[in-house]
Amino acid sequence: MKPNVRAGLLLGGVILLFSIVGGYIVTLPWWNAAGEPDATEWKLPARMPAGQQGELVRYGQKLFNDTPLYLGPDVAGVQMRYAGNRLSCQSCHANGGTQQNGLGLIGITRRFPQFNARAGHAITLEERINGCFERSMNGKALPNDSREMKAYLAYMDWLSADVPSGTKHIDGQGVLKLASLDRWADPGVGEAVFKQNCTVCHGANGLGQKAQDGRSYKYPPLWGPDSFNDGAGMDRVRTAAGYIYANMPKDNPSLTAEEAYDVAAYMDSQDRPHKAQLERDYPNLKAKPFDSPYGPYPDGYSEEQHKYGPFPATSPAP
Ligand code: HEC
Ligand code: HEC
Repeated sequence: MKPNVRAGLLLGGVILLFSIVGGYIVTLPWWNAAGEPDATEWKLPARMPAGQQGELVRYGQKLFNDTPLYLGPDVAGVQMRYAGNRLSCQSCHANGGTQQNGLGLIGITRRFPQFNARAGHAITLEERINGCFERSMNGKALPNDSREMKAYLAYMDWLSADVPSGTKHIDGQGVLKLASLDRWADPGVGEAVFKQNCTVCHGANGLGQKAQDGRSYKYPPLWGPDSFNDGAGMDRVRTAAGYIYANMPKDNPSLTAEEAYDVAAYMDSQDRPHKAQLERDYPNLKAKPFDSPYGPYPDGYSEEQHKYGPFPATSPAP
């Protein structure tokens, strides 16, 4: 073979190889050019597993969407009253946990166990679920070996079915991270935002509207005895502002970031149940997020500034 023919074949081979590999990368599901998973699958997986696993997933789905009917303060068996309020998991993790920028849980089982600053060590998904039971649901921990905990895990595993294992981050998971304001979030201004945008569903008193069964809510309470307690993530103004900005008013999120901060401040300045022993959270105080609304703090800022801001630009994101 003449040298220039050999070189031509080599070049052709290299081009062929590149186009095969390139084509493969382009058609791989879930991954975009930056190597980040694509956030296109914010919906329930198409197929339900068969048999007993499917039954467990469906039970988990009911527990998630209609929590008070199975685990709330009104259920007959006292020992099953794990939730202390009548919220459902999907009162915050909207649409069965499939809402992008709405605390969606697609892919959740792929990113646990995970280091947790509030606990000060790596936690399992069971522990994270119980974090919401003890705080967002103002209740007590589900035993790890209960059928209910297994059903929650099966449901979340199903939600994650189409996400490759090892995926630690999906665009739009958790709450939207809003930039800090250069002023404090003002509950007084937030009251006006609330009256104009929120009362139609959550009520003039913020206590929500019950569903017909009388044991759960059509529109969940934002504060008061039947809402999340003061150790919950939603009691942090920055977390709540990001959630509200991306999701509320429901089906028509239309607030500016400033309005979202102010109405979050108004909501989080209202009375709600108290969680005991909050001072034990964040054993390493330096890892405590600046906007944690309860002390102790590792710095000289007041509790009020920690709660409402202004948050220093250097403080870690929520
Ligand atoms: C009042 C609102 C609210 C309710 C109700 C609620 N959660 Fe949460 N949940 C949150 C917030 C806020 C976070 C994120 C907290 C943070 O990181 O600060 C979260 C985080 C989680 C996570 C980890 C998510 C992730 O991306 O790492 C899981 C799992 C979870 N919740 C499960 C549940 C389950 C199960 C229920 C019902 C028993 C429930 N939650 C009820 C607000 C809520
Ligand atoms: C059209 C009815 C509607 C309006 C208006 C509305 N919400 Fe909601 N809100 C809901 C529903 C329904 C949920 C339950 C989660 C879901 O389905 O998205 C919810 C959940 C919430 C939650 C989490 C659950 C809880 O109890 O804490 C917060 C916080 C919240 N709304 C704040 C607001 C704020 C602030 C406004 C006004 C800016 C507002 N909402 C306006 C219907 C509404």
